[in-house]
Amino acid sequence: MNNLAKIRILSTGRYIPKRRVLNQELTEWMDTSDDWIKKRTGIQSRYLSTGEETSDLCSKAADKIVSNGGVRVEDIGLIIVATMSPDSQSPSVASKVQAHLGAVNAVAFDLNAACSGFIYALSAAEKMLRHMSHSHALVIGGEVMSKVVDWNDRKTAVLFGDGAGGVMLERNSDTEHFISEDLKTDGTRGEALVSGLSTVSNPIFEGETANGFLTMDGREIFNFVIKSIPMSIQSVMADQKLTVDDIDQFILHQANARIIESVSKKIKCPIEKFPMNIQHYGNTSAASIPILLDELNEQNKLFTDKKQKLILSAFGGGLTWGTLLLEIN
Ligand code: ACO
Repeated sequence: MNNLAKIRILSTGRYIPKRRVLNQELTEWMDTSDDWIKKRTGIQSRYLSTGEETSDLCSKAADKIVSNGGVRVEDIGLIIVATMSPDSQSPSVASKVQAHLGAVNAVAFDLNAACSGFIYALSAAEKMLRHMSHSHALVIGGEVMSKVVDWNDRKTAVLFGDGAGGVMLERNSDTEHFISEDLKTDGTRGEALVSGLSTVSNPIFEGETANGFLTMDGREIFNFVIKSIPMSIQSVMADQKLTVDDIDQFILHQANARIIESVSKKIKCPIEKFPMNIQHYGNTSAASIPILLDELNEQNKLFTDKKQKLILSAFGGGLTWGTLLLEIN
């Protein structure tokens, strides 16, 4: 291992399907209202795939990340796609992205940690890249959530959207962006969010087979998040002897504006430090944080003249959750 190796985020990118669906349109499909969705979640619209698969969204996001970073695809040694809505179990979405890019030197695999997937993938990629001979790693979160939700279940269907985003990591000798982290799993509470259930189905099995759309106990997840995410954020800050005043932006998984507001109150930090785009996209699961990162980058709020301390924090099925502290310049 090269002890001097440092890892930085070089570029960002996103791809969002074209078809925007306003809350009002959902009222034609199910018993809901714009008012209920806005008040309970902050969501005003979402974008839904009209046929593009997760690998299509991820490949288009990958093109932008590669070109924004000016990276030669031969220099990419690793591609991780965080997703809970892959095109298929095999081949992986990451394999398809690798083929699309012609990234002949990249090892590619998917990682599933539901809505925490991008945080887990970023943490894994950062550690792997320090030990690799190639200089770059591509980390993408991409979802077509509209194919895993039950469009007869208003409790979940109104919440989710489709999209992909990601970052290019670069190994270098001067700049370290990854400062500290706290990643957690509690499988004992996994039943709170179940998706893609696939049971035994063979000639000697006599039970009932099942497969399934996403089901979620929203209250259970809400309560888990507003307890565990403030603790996770505080533990990462305490690890570096930092307070909320030292953090420039808190980039949280975009699941519900009320959750983000509760977290900001709990850690006693002004809501202005919590950028949000849930109103436009809904919950895009593993894609939500990288889409937001790319939007911030586009608005020149990511790589600024001054070094910024960022907290990235996500939560989701598993149950999984995690927080990364980055110092970006
Ligand atoms: N439109 C209208 N009414 C609705 C809708 C809807 N779309 N959905 C539910 N309701 C009704 C319910 O039927 C219920 O009516 P009742 O009181 O007559 O029974 C009422 O609204 C309240 O329903 P709750 O489910 O209790 O609503 P709540 O205030 O808890 O909000 C929500 C639901 C938005 C899902 C919230 O619990 C939440 O955000 N939870 C967290 C979800 C989350 O963050 N998931 C992240 C992980 S996702 C991942 O990992 C992929």
